[in-house]
Amino acid sequence: MVSNLVELGEASQIPKGEMKAFSIDGLGEIAVYHVDDEWFATDDVCSHAIASLTEGWLEGFTVICPAHSGEFDIRSGKALCFPATEPINTYQVWVEGGKLLVNTTPNKNDDTHASSPQCQ
Ligand code: FES
Repeated sequence: MVSNLVELGEASQIPKGEMKAFSIDGLGEIAVYHVDDEWFATDDVCSHAIASLTEGWLEGFTVICPAHSGEFDIRSGKALCFPATEPINTYQVWVEGGKLLVNTTPNKNDDTHASSPQCQ
């Protein structure tokens, strides 16, 4: 049994290629992404300033912040493009019986603090 397990409702509410923010009591907003047949979850708030990543754009495994175009890898949380330099948390998320489930304990990612390059 996973501790800190939260059910987010029907998985069908997020079609492939789309993302959605969920408000989690005591944690804040988590973004859930559906890419091909895989699911990913990160903080929804950008690490650069206050902006909702799910109001930006999802391109493959990259989410692009709507405020200043910082980019993050949704698999690791790593900041990919300036001005985003700090990683965002990632979370385990999966589908069981058609329901989305998330573990609200952040994953431990060791390689996410490398400096992010300037993107064009
Ligand atoms: S708030 Fe996201 S890049 Fe600035």
